[in-house]
Amino acid sequence: MSAELWNSAARVLEINWQDDHMVPSRRLYPHQWSWDAAFIAVGLAYVNPTRAWRDLRSLFEAQWPDGRVPHIVFDPATAEADYFPGPSFWGVPAYANRPPNGSTGIVQPPLHAVAAWEVYRRASAHGAACVQQAYGELEWLYPRLVAQQEYLTTRRDLGGAGLAGIVHPWESGLDNSPSWDAAMANVPADMTLLSTFRRRDLDVADASHRPTDRDYARYVGLVLSYRAEEYSDTDLLSRHMFAVECPSFNSILGAAELALAQIAAVLGLAAESDKHRDRAQRITGAIVKHLWNPETRTFHARDVRTGTLSPAHCVSGLMPLMLPDLPAEQVEGILAEARSERFGLPDETGLPVPSYDRTAPDFDTQRYWRGPVWINVNWLLRRGLLIHGRRDEAEDLRAAMVRLVHRNGHFEYFHPKNGEGLGAPTFSWTAALALDLLADRSVPAYAKAG
Ligand code: GLC
Repeated sequence: MSAELWNSAARVLEINWQDDHMVPSRRLYPHQWSWDAAFIAVGLAYVNPTRAWRDLRSLFEAQWPDGRVPHIVFDPATAEADYFPGPSFWGVPAYANRPPNGSTGIVQPPLHAVAAWEVYRRASAHGAACVQQAYGELEWLYPRLVAQQEYLTTRRDLGGAGLAGIVHPWESGLDNSPSWDAAMANVPADMTLLSTFRRRDLDVADASHRPTDRDYARYVGLVLSYRAEEYSDTDLLSRHMFAVECPSFNSILGAAELALAQIAAVLGLAAESDKHRDRAQRITGAIVKHLWNPETRTFHARDVRTGTLSPAHCVSGLMPLMLPDLPAEQVEGILAEARSERFGLPDETGLPVPSYDRTAPDFDTQRYWRGPVWINVNWLLRRGLLIHGRRDEAEDLRAAMVRLVHRNGHFEYFHPKNGEGLGAPTFSWTAALALDLLADRSVPAYAKAG
């Protein structure tokens, strides 16, 4: 089984390579996406490390002068009509040496430091020249990764809690998650926007798998609101209707500091390395203080505008497990939530965890991020289990992911009851992470003793 899966995964990464970057999938997502590039690099490192670095580099070549890394870097060779919302809708002005309309103005979770560290770790398997290349790439990336963290922890600390706020659901990477429903209810849905700007996702995907028109009108309205001041974050709360602290986004922010601590140590920057570790601790503390609900005993998204926690139980609430300094009470809370019938770790269902609470009345087996299983968040959860010494459960989850992808293909996401593949069929991060799940059983360096 593993040779077959390995070869099919490697083939997906071959098919989806475009000049200097990987597309998530040819038809649905014909540009470069930020956190996709991170997940992709982790797996691409096994079969083509040069391309793994190239993908990360081309993404960071599009970094804005303020440090933000755009959630999409547009491929100028792709027609405007092939993706909505496309380059001219975002209307990003020229920056650095890049032409106008080159990217979006929002971000995605900063997983790239984790990815860079993982690609570096795998270099030794490819020989000395590859290690040397990896070292050079880390040197190039390090200051850029630091600038990304600085942007997110200063300009995006919208609530003053020491956490990064997202200003659009798409910034979470968990685009249509019920985590945003409460905060989105305050965002006006101007349905006329959908006649001005036609959705393109419905031409290439089944409507029952995609967000509703009402949600889409809100998504478009939020982009227009952020775009109105050229994506400035100054005084954003007074003029922008969506600002949320997401547990998954902020856990990745913390994990990035831990990866930066390792990268800084390799680059001989010992003092910097300590600072990154301190920052990871501070972020962990802020997540616990602001996003933990002692009654539900799990983490929830917080609406910065109202100070309230979302009532929804989503997979994002499990992600703080990635942080080694998470206190025992929260570790136990997450494990109980993950094992409960809401998420059911694989010994219950044989499947990886779904994106949303299986027991919720609006659990949806088709619509993306509102029920289906995604490999990327399960990969992060497995990492969390390893970090907290839960090796048996980590192994069950690994086996469940491998089984799911082997049986059903490299789909974007999967039906949470029967495992059927949904969304885009040859999806890059599913393939890349399948390679990693087949190849790597090691435990992250900063794991707690199991
Ligand atoms: C969808 C996902 C997002 C991903 C993008 C490209 O929008 O929700 O996380 O980055 O597709 O794959």
